[in-house]
Amino acid sequence: MHREGGDINETFNKTNIDFIGNNSRVREIYSVINLVADSITPVLITGESGTGKDVVARLIHSKSPRAEKPYVAINCAAVPKDVFENELFGHEQGAFTGATAKKSGYLEMANGGTLFFDELAEMSTDTQAKLLRVIENKSFRRLGGKDEIHVDVRMLAATNKKIDDAIRDGEMRKDLYYRFSVIEIHLPPLRERKEDIPILINYFFAHFCKIHFKNLKKLSEESHNLMLRYDWPGNIRELKNAIERLVIMCPEDIISPNYLATNISDAKFQEDKISITVGTSLRKAEEEIILRTLDAVDNNKSKAAFVLGLSRKALYNKLARIDKY
Ligand SMILES: Nc1ncnc2c1ncn2[C@@H]1O[C@H](COP(=O)(O)OP(=O)(O)OP(=O)(O)O)[C@@H](O)[C@H]1O
Ligand SMILES: [Mg+2]
Repeated sequence: MHREGGDINETFNKTNIDFIGNNSRVREIYSVINLVADSITPVLITGESGTGKDVVARLIHSKSPRAEKPYVAINCAAVPKDVFENELFGHEQGAFTGATAKKSGYLEMANGGTLFFDELAEMSTDTQAKLLRVIENKSFRRLGGKDEIHVDVRMLAATNKKIDDAIRDGEMRKDLYYRFSVIEIHLPPLRERKEDIPILINYFFAHFCKIHFKNLKKLSEESHNLMLRYDWPGNIRELKNAIERLVIMCPEDIISPNYLATNISDAKFQEDKISITVGTSLRKAEEEIILRTLDAVDNNKSKAAFVLGLSRKALYNKLARIDKY
């Protein structure tokens, strides 16, 4: 586990939230979190799915003076648009048919603490305008209510959409974006911080072997190299799930590549490219593809046949015709 020295270490003890990473951009993010935790300024957290936006939001709250106060997270994509304002602002008794009693919304629930709007661009633009007003005035009215209710809430938001696209498509109001983006924390995808992969692998093995009562497992050198080559489109979530699966499914303590999911073990194919000039005969092209595939799978004929979509026998027949072989 990455616990040797440095600021990041201190988080574990203070907050029990795991924010692992040693990449320079991650270290920078960590210092921004420390800087902004004390203030009430809204923060926008951006990044692809699985890069750690939720983790960062919880970290900001738990390092803030509001740590002991409520932390309320709303997934704007999960709450139907027509009931969103009712959930956010609450309502007075009789505000609408069925409003038999007064109800407090998220804003009141989060009073004194932090309110995290996950997938902010999924909130309707009407509600976005009302939210901006709450941020500016620090007060709001319940649905059907006349009185302004004052609240002290720190607002955080996250989105995995490209903001420019969301603004252009009319999903995100520019004014609310400007209010939130005073401080924007962008989490890099895992493929741009590959040096953190070994640290995360060790950390997740330690974590999952412990909770599943297994001996500490590790990857063979070849498996490790394949994990490093893979692009991790699902980012840290995908890596975390992959390690948990290996801990549960692999009976051996040293994990060989055949236990890896095929998308990971096929990672080597993503980088190897063959260029064939126009005018090359089909036979020559086929030969090149077959030989290069065999190289990529360390001459394992069954695997090569599988990748090429051939039976083993068909592959052997083709190989018999290739002179060089
Ligand atoms: N730096 C990190 N260190 C350790 N675990 C992490 C880190 N970043 C993310 N994780 C873990 O990876 C998983 C995904 O993280 P998180 O839910 O924060 O991603 P997200 O960016 O909010 O994704 P989405 O856009 O899909 O909501 C979680 O289980 C989280 O605990
Ligand atoms: Mg999230």
